[in-house]
Order: sequence, then C-alpha cells, then structure tokens
Amino acid sequence: MWSLAPLLLASLAAALDADSLTTQYFGNDAPWYRDRIPLFETSLSDIQDVYYYRWSVFRAHQRDLGSNGYISTEFLNDVSWQEQPWALLIDASNFHLREGRWCRDRRYTSDYGAFLFGPNGDPYQFSEAMADGVWQAYLVNGVADDATPLLSSMQTVYAGWNSTTRGVGGYDVSKGLYWIQPLTDATEYTIASIDASGGEDGFTGGYAFRPSINSYQYANALAIANIANLTGDTAVATEYAGLAQALKTRLQDALWNSTFQHFIDRYKEDNSYVTYWDFIRGRELVGYVPWTHDLPDDNTTYAPAWQHLLNTSELAGAHGLRTNEPSYQYYMVQYRYDGTHPECQWNGPAWPYQTTQALTGLANLLDHYPLSAATNTITTTDYTNILLQYAQLHYNPSRGGILDIEEDYNAATGAPIVGLPRSPHYFHSGFIDLILSGYVGLRPRADDILEINPQASASAVSYFRAERIPYHGHDIAIQWDATGSYYGTQGLLLQVDNSTVASSPTLTRLTTKITRLPPPPAVSRPIDLAVQLAADSAYPVGSVSTADADTDAIHGAIDGRVWFFPQTEVANGWDSPAGNGSEVWFALDLGNVTRTARSEIAFFVNATQGYAVPQAYRVQSNATGGWEDVAVTGGGYSAPVGNGITEVEWAGVDARGLRLVFTPSSGKMARLVEWKVFAE
Ligand SMILES: *[C@@H]1O[C@H](CO)[C@@H](O)[C@H](O)[C@H]1NC(C)=O
Ligand SMILES: *[C@@H]1O[C@H](CO)[C@@H](O)[C@H](O)[C@H]1NC(C)=O
Ligand SMILES: *[C@@H]1O[C@H](CO)[C@@H](O)[C@H](O)[C@H]1NC(C)=O
Ligand SMILES: *[C@@H]1O[C@H](CO)[C@@H](O)[C@H](O)[C@H]1NC(C)=O
Ligand SMILES: *[C@@H]1O[C@H](CO)[C@@H](O)[C@H](O)[C@H]1NC(C)=O
Ligand SMILES: *[C@@H]1O[C@H](CO)[C@@H](O)[C@H](O)[C@H]1NC(C)=O
Ligand SMILES: *[C@@H]1O[C@H](CO)[C@@H](O)[C@H](O)[C@H]1NC(C)=O
Ligand SMILES: *[C@@H]1O[C@H](CO)[C@@H](O)[C@H](O)[C@H]1NC(C)=O
Ligand SMILES: *[C@@H]1O[C@H](CO)[C@@H](O)[C@H](O)[C@H]1NC(C)=O
Ligand SMILES: *[C@@H]1O[C@H](CO)[C@@H](O)[C@H](O)[C@H]1NC(C)=O
Repeated sequence: MWSLAPLLLASLAAALDADSLTTQYFGNDAPWYRDRIPLFETSLSDIQDVYYYRWSVFRAHQRDLGSNGYISTEFLNDVSWQEQPWALLIDASNFHLREGRWCRDRRYTSDYGAFLFGPNGDPYQFSEAMADGVWQAYLVNGVADDATPLLSSMQTVYAGWNSTTRGVGGYDVSKGLYWIQPLTDATEYTIASIDASGGEDGFTGGYAFRPSINSYQYANALAIANIANLTGDTAVATEYAGLAQALKTRLQDALWNSTFQHFIDRYKEDNSYVTYWDFIRGRELVGYVPWTHDLPDDNTTYAPAWQHLLNTSELAGAHGLRTNEPSYQYYMVQYRYDGTHPECQWNGPAWPYQTTQALTGLANLLDHYPLSAATNTITTTDYTNILLQYAQLHYNPSRGGILDIEEDYNAATGAPIVGLPRSPHYFHSGFIDLILSGYVGLRPRADDILEINPQASASAVSYFRAERIPYHGHDIAIQWDATGSYYGTQGLLLQVDNSTVASSPTLTRLTTKITRLPPPPAVSRPIDLAVQLAADSAYPVGSVSTADADTDAIHGAIDGRVWFFPQTEVANGWDSPAGNGSEVWFALDLGNVTRTARSEIAFFVNATQGYAVPQAYRVQSNATGGWEDVAVTGGGYSAPVGNGITEVEWAGVDARGLRLVFTPSSGKMARLVEWKVFAE
C-alpha cells in the first residue's frame, strides 16, 4: 500500500518516555542508552523486558580497544580459544552486526566491520557471514562509506575459503560446495561429528557439506555483489552474483534430502563409520539456515521443511527449538564436561544461536514465501509463540530467575546446561533484530522504499510501539493497537520523523517512499588512551596502592569493558579495601608523556555485597614530577555515580602517570569497573 497524505491520517500517537524507560531498565547507566537505542513497548511483557535486557548485553559486549576501535565480544571474560589480545571470536559476528545495526550510534557496527576485515581480523577462525552482516547494517543505516572500503578485503576473505590448507573447512571443486568441521562451524557434536566418531565422541571431526557454511557463503557473495554495485564495479557485482547463484543451485540440488524433507549435511569425511557424500541420518535445526539468508526457492519441494519446526516429536521442544531430533540415536547424550559441568553440545539442546537463525528464516518465510507459508499453514501466531518461548529462555532458573542468557538449554525444561562462570550474559545470538525486523517488522531495503510487515500476531499482541528506529537517516515509529484503547488510535501506524505516513486497521504490510537523506555526520570516535589490551601487555599498565594486588582485576579496570551485572555473576574490575577514611589509588602508566583532559569512570555498587561509590575522589598527574591534582574544569568533580558513568574534565595536562585517588565509603569497598582517559 502506498502512503496517503499525512494530514488525512490520524494525529500522532503518544510518544514513549525515553527518560522514564531508560531509567526503569538501566538505572544510573541510562545515559548510555538514552539516545542510542530505539524505544519499544508491547503487551507481551517478557518480550519487552528481554528487548531492553538484550541492549544491556549489547552494551556489555562492546569492547573498547582504544585506537583499534570497538568490537563485539562473545563472552564477558576471556576464554582460551579467543584471538588475543582482542578477545575476538567471529562465529557470532553476523548476530552482533544485525543487533548493532539498530543502534542509533553507528560507531559499533562501523568500527567492528573495519576490524573484522582489517589486519587484526581472523576470518577463518569459524565459518562466518561477516560480509552479509556489514551489508545488513548498510540496509538499515544507508551509509555506503561503512561498507565500500571493505570490499577488497571481503573478496580476499571469500576467495580464501576456497583453500583447503587450513584443514577445517574449504571448497570441494567436484561438488561445487563448501565443507567444514562442525566445531569450526561453531556447532560441536552434531550428527555428522558424532557419527563420524562411531558414536564415541564428536567434539572434532565430522567434516561435512553443511547447509550453514554454504548459506553463509551465499549471503557473503550476494553482499559482495551488492556492495560492489554501490561502488559501480559491475564486473565484481556480476562475478559474485554468479557465485551466489551457483552456490544456491548446488545447495538446493545436493543438500535437500526428500526423505527427511530437509536440508541436511552430506559427509566430506570418509572413514570406517561414514562415507563421503552420504547424507547424515537425521534432521537438524541448521536446515533452516538457508531461509535465514533467503536462499531457497519458494516452491512445494522445499516448503515441507517447515512442518518439522512445529512438530513436538521433532524440532519443537516444550521450552525451545531442538538442534536435532529425539529420534537420533545420540540425542542429548552428554560427552564432554568441564569438571562436572556439562560442556556445549549441539545434539539436541536448544541454542539461542540457531533459534535466532530459525526465527529470522521464519520471518522471511512469512514475509515473502507465500506458497511455502500457505502450504504449511504456518502463521504469525507460530512466529510470536516461538519468539515468546525464546524470550522466556532468558529467565535463568539456575540463577533465581534473573535475566541471563547463556550458551545452550535443555529444551524440555528451559534450564541452561553449561552454567560455568564464563556463561552469563553470553552474546552469541540475536534478539533485538528479531523484534525490529520481525515482530515490529521493519524490512530493511537498499532502495528508497520503507516497508513494514509485522510478524506479531494480532490474536496474541494487543499493542506495541517501537520508535526512534534509525532508518536511512530518518526516525521511524511503528505502532499497533488492536482496539484503540491503549494509544487512542485503532490499528497499525507507520510514522516517519514524527509524521504518520501510512496506516491500516490490521497488522499487514505497509510501504511508503522515503527520501534518502545525505549521509549523516561522521561518527564521533573519542579514543580511550588507558586501554590495556591484555593483562600482560606492556603499556598502558595499572597499579594500585594496596599490596595484595590481583593483576587480572587491575587489568579488568582498564580492559575496555564496561558492565554492571551483580558480582555473583561475572565480576569486572578492581576492588578497593573497605573504607576507613584513608585514601587509596589506582595509577596508570601510559608509557609515554601523553595529553589527557577527560575521564569516564565506572564504579559498581551493590550494598548487600558490600560495595558503595567512594565518598570522595580526585584525579592526579605527575606532570611536574610529584603527584598533583589536575585542574578540574566546569563545576569541579561531579558526584560519583554507582553502576553508571562518572565524568570528569580538566585543563589538559601532559604526563606519563595519572592516578585516580579515592576514599572508599566507610566499611564499603569501591569497585572500579573501568577507568577511561581521553585527550579531549
Ligand atoms: C572457488 O573455486 C571454484 C572452483 O575453482 C571457482 O569456481 C570459484 O570461482 C572460486 N571462488 C573464488 C571466490 O575464488
Ligand atoms: C545495482 O543497484 C541498482 C540501483 O541501486 C539496482 O537497480 C540494481 O538492481 C543493482 N544490481 C544488482 C546486481 O544488484
Ligand atoms: C536421505 O538421507 C537418508 C539418511 O542418510 C538416506 O537413507 C536417504 O536415502 C536420503 N534420501 C534421499 C532421497 O537421498
Ligand atoms: C523447486 O525448485 C527447485 C530448484 O529450482 C527445482 O529443482 C524443483 O523442481 C522445484 N520444485 C517444484 C515443485 O517446482
Ligand atoms: C510428527 O513427527 C513424528 C515423528 O517424526 C511423526 O511420526 C508424525 O507423523 C509427525 N506429525 C505430524 C502431524 O506431522
Ligand atoms: C520528533 O519529536 C520529538 C519530540 O517532540 C523531537 O524531539 C524530535 O526531534 C522529532 N524528530 C524529528 C525527526 O523531527
Ligand atoms: C585503613 O585503610 C588503608 C587503605 O586500605 C590501610 O592501608 C590501613 O591499614 C587501614 N587502617 C586501619 C587502621 O585499618
Ligand atoms: C612512546 O612514543 C614513541 C615515539 O612516538 C613510540 O615509538 C613508542 O611506541 C611509545 N611507547 C609507548 C609505550 O607507547
Ligand atoms: C545485589 O546483590 C544481591 C546479592 O548478590 C543480589 O541479589 C541483588 O540482585 C543485587 N542488586 C542489584 C541491584 O543488582
Ligand atoms: C610519572 O609516572 C610514570 C609512571 O609511573 C613514570 O614512569 C614517570 O617517570 C613519572 N614522571 C615524572 C615526571 O615523575
């Protein structure tokens, strides 16, 4: 439907209260979110609460690497298999970029894309859809300058997947398909890897032609073609569009198993248990990944795959989507432990990672696969139910029902399986993108049409409103009120820059022309001069006034990570001794004389755990040889903020040493979560 003239339509609906919502969900850290996130509310309160929780997960995983910019991390703390000193893991990077594309501050996707395709990236660490993630961000923000400089590197990375020398993944010329080890596909213990071990293990091995890596490479090839098209490079655009088409044909022809009515793996591995090119012997949730990336044709051959998503004997668990089916011989057999804790496996548990892919695929199906959706009588009610089930997985019964997303779940109970100290607030999946592109239904496009098609079900959802959604330089709001009793206007409204441009009495597709604005101002990139990349990096380096100093905790206070989740989950930063009226300090050696003029200080508080903000603090430099207070500008030192950012500005000083000197409150510790220092 094309837009009607704005004045003919209902007047503006009530706008959401940004101060009140961000304070309600983020407390003293609200200023970080206030102008960065789209606001959202809905009648399904779990979906609303998890939406804001997922922004806190996003914020917690934005690691500031100083002059190397921001990247998204996967675990809050360091794990042994990450790429150091960055803490880089690329397997979830497509989710990170699809979540981040809705952040009104483009810095996070812009920096991350540049990092992933820059000299410090690690593009073959896992299978990846990084180029697609960059393109998906472009579809929302419309800023070509974030994507086009990466084009050459994207082609190099794409071509590199052709090499089999890494031994964990590559391209089989005779089959025209990519293959990978399930572990390197970020999914250890699949049917392929377990069966290739004769049922004995499955952590490694099980090389297979999988629906995942071939769909990722399809999406990457299309992204490269589209980005080349933005630059006018028709030769590259044509070449990569051709590679995508060829891969699509091969995946559809070779990985579709008509007996199972599903896209499943074929073995690359050939050993005494499994035979090259044979199909695996069961359905897996990974079979929907082709739809995540809009690969399959909408026809009756492939449509039946979706019957298996809703069948409770197959992929539909009571509390989550299973990664493979109960009929598989080694379904839910636990092979791997860390001590007594079960470790990650993909032989049945519900994984937020693949739930996100399946829901993205389902939104695509409902949006633009009419024949497949009709064949399956699969509807927005199914989408809403699975999304709600996924939202409810975020409430962790093992940690008192708090919001805490972890690795994998028992689909029968909804309890997390791993539950290690590293597990809380795991950023290995998406949710914000499911809300904004699915439930609320803004369908990002490269052209100058704004299109919405909400997948929230009219029977289950009485109202929702999302606003301040950034799109091609505009602010979009989308509102639904089933009866008109909530917002005063019945139906679906689409608003651009505060004007209603289209509406409908029902939840349906709406489109309108949207003028492409000139590119927005350049992203602001203040550089944190205090970041120490790893605890053993030379400079900057921290030291403290107490004798029994914990190097990791000191590093934590300058590692570029900021979060305020309670201590009982994952601690972050240096704890002072409990206050007795004396001062303590945290000192920085910047390695060279450096100009500084501003700080952002993050203090954690939780009274029941014995933490309070310090009763007083000041900043000193050793510009003159001895330690002297900096000359604070403005109104002096601002009152210290707990679980938020305390800002201080001073007349610029050139010094190699800086200290944060503070007096912990009486009987309470102060935790310095992060100390950031800037030149201006
Ligand atoms: C990968 O190898 C195949 C087979 O040689 C070739 O057709 C394809 O063009 C190659 N792709 C790239 C990106 O080099
Ligand atoms: C390239 O972009 C133009 C204009 O945006 C579009 O019409 C065309 O379909 C695109 N071509 C490809 C191959 O995507
Ligand atoms: C589907 O896979 C199963 C299990 O490997 C196999 O027995 C069957 O023959 C396959 N179906 C087709 C049509 O190839
Ligand atoms: C579905 O599409 C595939 C690939 O184009 C084709 O091989 C198959 O015959 C189609 N099925 C039907 C029922 O048209
Ligand atoms: C559900 O799955 C089971 C196990 O595969 C199958 O026997 C049953 O027919 C399926 N039910 C429907 C309605 O398709
Ligand atoms: C929309 O209205 C709000 C509240 O009045 C205002 O702050 C904002 O600047 C307006 N946005 C645009 C794009 O006009
Ligand atoms: C008071 O606290 C300081 C700093 O933690 C410590 O060095 C000192 O020993 C404490 N004094 C007493 C009397 O406990
Ligand atoms: C100090 O500055 C010099 C000259 O710019 C540079 O080469 C050196 O790497 C810097 N040292 C540190 C520790 O940053
Ligand atoms: C403070 O800590 C207690 C005990 O660990 C915890 O139950 C509570 O949720 C925390 N409070 C806040 C606001 O995080
Ligand atoms: C300032 O402190 C740094 C770090 O401790 C030290 O290396 C440097 O020599 C000091 N500079 C002066 C002028 O005292």
